[in-house]
Amino acid sequence: MDSFEWNKIAGAVLGTLLFVVAVRIASGMIFEAEPPEKPGYVVEGVEAPAAAGGAPAVVEEALPDWGTVLPKADVAAGKSIASRCEQCHDLSKGGPNKIGPALWGVVGRPRASHPGFDYSGAMKAKGGAWSYDELFKFLKSPGAYIPGTKMSFAGLRSADERVNLIAFLRTDMDSPAAIPPPHPAAAPAQAPTGGKAPATAPATAPTDQPAPPKKT
Ligand code: HEC
Repeated sequence: MDSFEWNKIAGAVLGTLLFVVAVRIASGMIFEAEPPEKPGYVVEGVEAPAAAGGAPAVVEEALPDWGTVLPKADVAAGKSIASRCEQCHDLSKGGPNKIGPALWGVVGRPRASHPGFDYSGAMKAKGGAWSYDELFKFLKSPGAYIPGTKMSFAGLRSADERVNLIAFLRTDMDSPAAIPPPHPAAAPAQAPTGGKAPATAPATAPTDQPAPPKKT
């Protein structure tokens, strides 16, 4: 074989190697997408399920602590959201039923109780009253919370919008509905009075706090 022959062989080998490298780079680009560090959504105020592997359990939306959120809510913003309800609901005192029942004084009102309105069977069957929690759950997605309801409204996904709206509805009555006291859970743990510290409230400072300096 002359040198020309060898050149051809060397060229073929090099060409093949280049091709292999190129394919590896290209396929790496396609298949080595990095997995996200965290799943794409976090539900606030809800503890992650202690899942032993596998898909996370479906978690329900945490209910607001009404005693904390209502005094801070933006009632004016809630009133402007309520204009969306007015295509179907009258909000004024003694107002008429329209496509939906009149909503004056709805907070605390027994469900499906407004005189003269022909409620759906689903709404009548649900029972209970329109507490803050019930309004919050219903207004997120009426058809999902009470399947079969006649209220054809997609719902308000934003929890803040619902809180503001409910803060407004609370004033849309003769005297605003009472605000419950804030949850005690947020208050600092009490110092134990007896000999035994309660299991849920350790007497010592949490471990992530620096220990108080020792007196000398
Ligand atoms: C497209 C019309 C429509 C819109 C928009 C609408 N509703 Fe309704 N709503 C209805 C109907 C119809 C019912 C009766 C549902 C049934 O009987 O199942 C209803 C029922 C209700 C009830 C139950 C009342 C009761 O007396 O038990 C509440 C509370 C309510 N709506 C709040 C709202 C709020 C707040 C908004 C605005 C965010 C809103 N709705 C927007 C049509 C509507």
